[in-house]
Amino acid sequence: MDRQYYASAEERRAEIQAQAHAMGITEDYISTLVDRFYERVRADELIGPIFEQAIGDDWPPHLAKMKLFWSSVALNTGAYSGKPVPTHLKLSRVQPRHFKVWLTLFRQTLEETAPSRDAIKYFMERAERIAQSLQLAMFGVPGIPPKRV
Ligand code: HEM
Repeated sequence: MDRQYYASAEERRAEIQAQAHAMGITEDYISTLVDRFYERVRADELIGPIFEQAIGDDWPPHLAKMKLFWSSVALNTGAYSGKPVPTHLKLSRVQPRHFKVWLTLFRQTLEETAPSRDAIKYFMERAERIAQSLQLAMFGVPGIPPKRV
């Protein structure tokens, strides 16, 4: 995306939403994406148990939160105000290979459900960037230990 200068946050939000809508990305699609992604996650033998341990049977609030998260990320709605880093730092079983699986399942879900090829790219770019920053916080960079909060 070209870097642009906006007169206001509202103008920026409207522009981001217009671009996303042009790719078919709506709140409805985000809801489908999140539901379908976590179905895959729960069925996965490697990362499913990590989620089951943290979330148990209490999935509706997690799914609702993740829909707010993705609407903030993809549509700039500002609907999510949580702190993913401390949440993930508590998940002591998670290793870098789990992130590879997470991203693979996310891509598979997009390939199956996305309204356009551009939407796949749009979500994957954002997921990869966030996965990268979570991993930096959790595992540090080689030779530099992560900062524990
Ligand atoms: C191996 C990879 C990952 C695992 C195993 C994992 C696991 C989890 C679990 C178990 C929770 C719920 C924690 C709880 O409620 O106690 C959670 C929350 C969350 N995850 Fe992940 N996650 C992973 C990667 C990601 C990635 C790549 C993203 C973003 C692109 C992400 C975004 C979030 C967000 C936004 C929350 C909610 C945080 C909050 O409470 O506000 N996660 N994750």
